[in-house]
Amino acid sequence: MKYVRMPIEIESPEEQGYDTIRFNLSESSMRDRKLSELGLGIDDLVLAYGVHRGAPGLRALIAKQSGVDEAQVLTTAGAAGALFIIATTLLEKADHLIVVRPNYATNIETPRAIGCAIDYVDLAFEDGFRLDAVRIERLIRAETKLISVTTPHNPTGVALNRDTLNRLIALAEQKGIRLLVDETYRDMSFVPQLPVAASLSDHAISVASMSKSYGIPGIRVGWVVNRDAKLMERFLAAKEQIGICGSIVDERIAEVALEQRDAWLSTVARELEAARAIVEHWLARESRIEWVKPEGGCVCFPRIRKDASVDVEKFYRVLAQDHAAAVGPGHWFEQDKRFMRIGFGWPTPDELKGGLAAISATLDKAGR
Ligand SMILES: Cc1ncc(COP(=O)(O)O)c(C=O)c1O
Repeated sequence: MKYVRMPIEIESPEEQGYDTIRFNLSESSMRDRKLSELGLGIDDLVLAYGVHRGAPGLRALIAKQSGVDEAQVLTTAGAAGALFIIATTLLEKADHLIVVRPNYATNIETPRAIGCAIDYVDLAFEDGFRLDAVRIERLIRAETKLISVTTPHNPTGVALNRDTLNRLIALAEQKGIRLLVDETYRDMSFVPQLPVAASLSDHAISVASMSKSYGIPGIRVGWVVNRDAKLMERFLAAKEQIGICGSIVDERIAEVALEQRDAWLSTVARELEAARAIVEHWLARESRIEWVKPEGGCVCFPRIRKDASVDVEKFYRVLAQDHAAAVGPGHWFEQDKRFMRIGFGWPTPDELKGGLAAISATLDKAGR
């Protein structure tokens, strides 16, 4: 494995220092919550090794919301841990992967570290970042082991429609390929939710976590869902070799948070609707920036118009230095730096408005 650090991680706010940022529009989750908000009583929790597949109560809750059985759920160290396990289990050097780009960097970087052949399906702003399953179909070859998609998508917020998901599942089944559907943003949706992909087919593998909609990424709890018992056994073997089991403390916290799912998610939906409207309102008056309106998640991926004559390097410099504001620059996603990811779920409404005003003020200063 050839590990390389990813810009999105090197330049992340937690690595830079949260205290250096006033307007943090670079996050891809809801606001981080305090442990005390969850109403936990865990003083009597025995700090033994946990059940290797994940705490039974937690897995039962995940299974119920996913439309599968408990045995078809494996907890992992965040969705990131799940993606690592899946890539290293399914891909070797001689194999071929088809992956959507842009993407959450790990979905691309771990396969690169493995050294397998990769074909990218590049999503275009001009197409509304829509994924066309036919483009994936054309790339399939004998060595293809995995197709990797994300919905709702990071960084664009675009969601797959049911037809495309069905088409991808049919392709995976016909060709004997696994379909990874990264559903980390599934609980944040402005359009009707798709079923958990893994509930539809043995060939589909779904991944999600507690990080984004629950605002508790610090506990590092995610999961893999898949109906193929043999494959799940291989995923478990990988998990056991990495860390035996998950943290018993983290898993208890996740279970308590998931028990509060319905109440919490309705608050999240309300807040996201209001936050997306703030961005939309700003864009209606900010003619130098164009976007594709997100259908899910808590991020969008607008870009500075080409004819806006903006010095992009200067833009990012001034935004950080003069306004202490942060967005996710295009290079985090291997895209032109005219693109920026704006996270609207994490900041308070005032911080979001302040950050957007800072972007406009910076565009004034960064003209060419
Ligand atoms: C699409 C996607 N998948 C996975 C992850 C990893 O999330 P986690 O914190 O659960 O490891 C992220 C985090 O940004 C993400 O955006």
